[in-house]
Amino acid sequence: MEKRIKISPSLLSADFSRLGEEVAAVTQAGADFIHFDVMDGHFVPNITFGPMVLGAIRGFSVLPFEAHLMILHPEKYWRQFAQAGADVIGIHVECEVDHKTVIKEIHNAGKQVCMVINPPTDIDKIYPFLDMAEQILVMTVNPGFGGQSFIESTVPKIEKIADIREKKNLGFEISVDGGINYETARIVKNAGADILVAGSFIFSKKGSYRKVIEGLR
Ligand code: DX5
Ligand code: ZN
Repeated sequence: MEKRIKISPSLLSADFSRLGEEVAAVTQAGADFIHFDVMDGHFVPNITFGPMVLGAIRGFSVLPFEAHLMILHPEKYWRQFAQAGADVIGIHVECEVDHKTVIKEIHNAGKQVCMVINPPTDIDKIYPFLDMAEQILVMTVNPGFGGQSFIESTVPKIEKIADIREKKNLGFEISVDGGINYETARIVKNAGADILVAGSFIFSKKGSYRKVIEGLR
């Protein structure tokens, strides 16, 4: 039997004036996660929302929330997102932090870890964390904005990580984020992705969330 691909709608492209309703709508439409993109204007050139907003919308879904922290100091802020109701904490390998200590702290708090790698970053930067994280997220655009085009050169990275997982019999799920549509979904699924984060492609189709989510699987 083919594996069931999981879909994680990114709220970055949702209607911010109705964020709670948007969360409820993608939940009813069959999503598997809610993806919450946190940007601080330093790690990426854009600012989004913080833990208070996550806390305000948490009650609109029973799904796990992923806090994708595109911030310079995840070690200072991850706890606030966890306390607000995030279930998975996403930390970039590019951040200058003691990743292994932060990972242990997140696990001690009973939360899951997603280690994230940007398109220009060498793949070997993720290797030390493959046996420590529940998810490995391969960015398929440069983070900071929704609606960008998929970067094709990230595909070998997904394939390589899937290959290592198989050879070493590791248990993490492979997630991808950025530029996902029906065409690129097919490419990343073939490469070994398990979870597809999609923002603009889902939220631009008001009233058809179920159809789009099913179509991406
Ligand atoms: C990009 C974010 C993504 C973004 C994806 O910095 O991490 O989660 O919302 O948006 P799309 O699917 O529109 O590329
Ligand atoms: Zn994201």
